[in-house]
Amino acid sequence: MATTLEELTSQIKDRLDIVDVVSRQVILKKSGSHFWGLCPFHKEKTPSFSVNPSLGIYKCFGCGEGGDSLSFIMKTENKDFMDVIKEYAERFNLQMPDNFKKTDKSLKDELMKACSAAAEFYKRNLSGEPLKYLHERGMTDEIIDKFGLGLAGNSGLYEKLKNTFTADVLEKAGLVIERDGRYIDRFRNRIIIPIQNENGETVAFGARAIEKDQTPKYLNSPDSLIYNKSKLLYGLFTAKDAIKSEDCVILMEGYFDVIAAQSHGIENCVASCGTSLTPDHIKLLSRYTQSRKIYLSFDTDSAGQKATNRNAELIKEAFEGLGNIKQFDESYISSTEDKYACEIRVISPPEGKDPDEFIRSTGAASYKKYMEHAPLLIDFQFNNLLNEKNTLKTPQDKVKLVKKLIPVLHEIRNEIIRGEYVRMAAAALDIDENSLLLEIRKMNDAHIVQTVNNEDRIVTIVTKSSGEEEKAQKNLLSLFLVTNPPISYGEIKEMTDRVGFSGETLINVKSTLDKLANTVKNTREAIEQLYSQFAQDEDTRKIITELISVSEAFQNLTRQDFTTVVEENIKRLNRCREEKEYAKNRELYKSVNNDDEKARQEQLKLRDNIMNRRQLND
Ligand code: GTP
Ligand code: MN
Repeated sequence: MATTLEELTSQIKDRLDIVDVVSRQVILKKSGSHFWGLCPFHKEKTPSFSVNPSLGIYKCFGCGEGGDSLSFIMKTENKDFMDVIKEYAERFNLQMPDNFKKTDKSLKDELMKACSAAAEFYKRNLSGEPLKYLHERGMTDEIIDKFGLGLAGNSGLYEKLKNTFTADVLEKAGLVIERDGRYIDRFRNRIIIPIQNENGETVAFGARAIEKDQTPKYLNSPDSLIYNKSKLLYGLFTAKDAIKSEDCVILMEGYFDVIAAQSHGIENCVASCGTSLTPDHIKLLSRYTQSRKIYLSFDTDSAGQKATNRNAELIKEAFEGLGNIKQFDESYISSTEDKYACEIRVISPPEGKDPDEFIRSTGAASYKKYMEHAPLLIDFQFNNLLNEKNTLKTPQDKVKLVKKLIPVLHEIRNEIIRGEYVRMAAAALDIDENSLLLEIRKMNDAHIVQTVNNEDRIVTIVTKSSGEEEKAQKNLLSLFLVTNPPISYGEIKEMTDRVGFSGETLINVKSTLDKLANTVKNTREAIEQLYSQFAQDEDTRKIITELISVSEAFQNLTRQDFTTVVEENIKRLNRCREEKEYAKNRELYKSVNNDDEKARQEQLKLRDNIMNRRQLND
């Protein structure tokens, strides 16, 4: 009996887990019965996007976006409803209504078939010296079989497959390359490591040189219809259950590291395939580790430490916009500040080996010990730098070291903890604690010069302190006091009327200015009136004086620039207030725990406020 579209839709929805679907795009963290993350539909720094697995829906309390798994796919992948239905009906092998046309996925299928045929060919081919080499590297036949390792000789693959697959398919699968009008095998004289996608299908290959001086050491399949190396992690198919159950993942550098670790019982490890880590890799991993705990495990020699730092930077970059990174251990200071943060730790046994060599020579148990005591990334970087102090020879060396230390310290958001680290560093390096603090502060200031207008007429220096909100308000009020303003008082009043001023003094000044706007002839008169109105109020007079001097920055502006200043400051004000709201939310996040319904209600109320205000602003 033919299915209807409604039936098909509900069959698909039954098979799509909302948490799984959303996790493709958003790093989710469980809290109570919901999952939370940063909204993919608007920019935010604090998670206001929630997923309710029992209802199968998502909702952002920041921007109001919401829906079910199908609408999430439609929105994020920019597809229409029928596209999504067709795609998933095929993927889940569901019977389609008779009037559905089958979309063409046969090419992809062909590429997959070609890759598995190639894997089979390479596997059978493994013998002689290369097999001996693998045995010497500690790989038993069982391991070789499990990971499907094989051998590419001088040639042979194209000959073997050319009657089954077209040259076009073999080329698109990255197996052969065209040279002078003929096809030759891409991989020659190499040990072959098949790369599987998340579903365990072979989609690409890594190939290691077996001869001395053979370059490159590793040759990898190019990206194809079925293989995107920036979205695929080697070993994930075999690691994913372990990653889920251990709720953490180990990132390694090489194929052989993953093979050694997984075959020694450390199964929750993956590697990128000869590329650097991308945000997509991180998103992929976060689908499996709700706690977002990532261990970095690279070589421990100095080249490896560079790799650790490089990859750490990449992870941080990848995490930009996705969430915070945990910066301190509960054991060190008890705080829930980092409740939603990703946790990056570094496994670094001292022997100067890569995980493969270390596990084979010292054993999985010993590796796990190092894992248990793996420091947080920030501690790893900090300690590594401090250890460099033993190599210092000249004062200049010390300056260089301090320069490297400053960005690491600068990253620490919590003031108290940063203070602790600064104290430790100052003591270890025998430098003045206060000058170190000063240098770190200077780094803060480097970010805050903002150009309002690209004609560099108006350059406003914004201090990103808690005073920013006040500063924006003062800027706005000072506009009333500009001599010969390019727009009338009435207009200034109108433009600033939508701003809700805060603080008693500023509110008073604003309402007085509003009244004066209709009566005074010029700025001079306005200032005189202001001072006399507040003759008894010293604090307010101080503010008026301040406003007058601020107004000097806005003299002689064109009409347009003047308007820009108004808008820019209103925007800034709104941003500040939003940030305050976020800060409040963050506080609430801290107090929300699984059964604290009251805190949750409070939080939801705040979300609604934000949403309302956004709508008002729009
Ligand atoms: P062994 O020397 O066999 O133990 O390999 P390894 O895994 O220790 O390799 P290495 O540390 O040199 O490199 C780690 C990973 O970087 C490899 O698994 C590759 O993915 C990648 N890689 C290394 N060399 C190359 C190269 O020449 N080209 C490309 N594309 N990737 C490479
Ligand atoms: Mn190695």
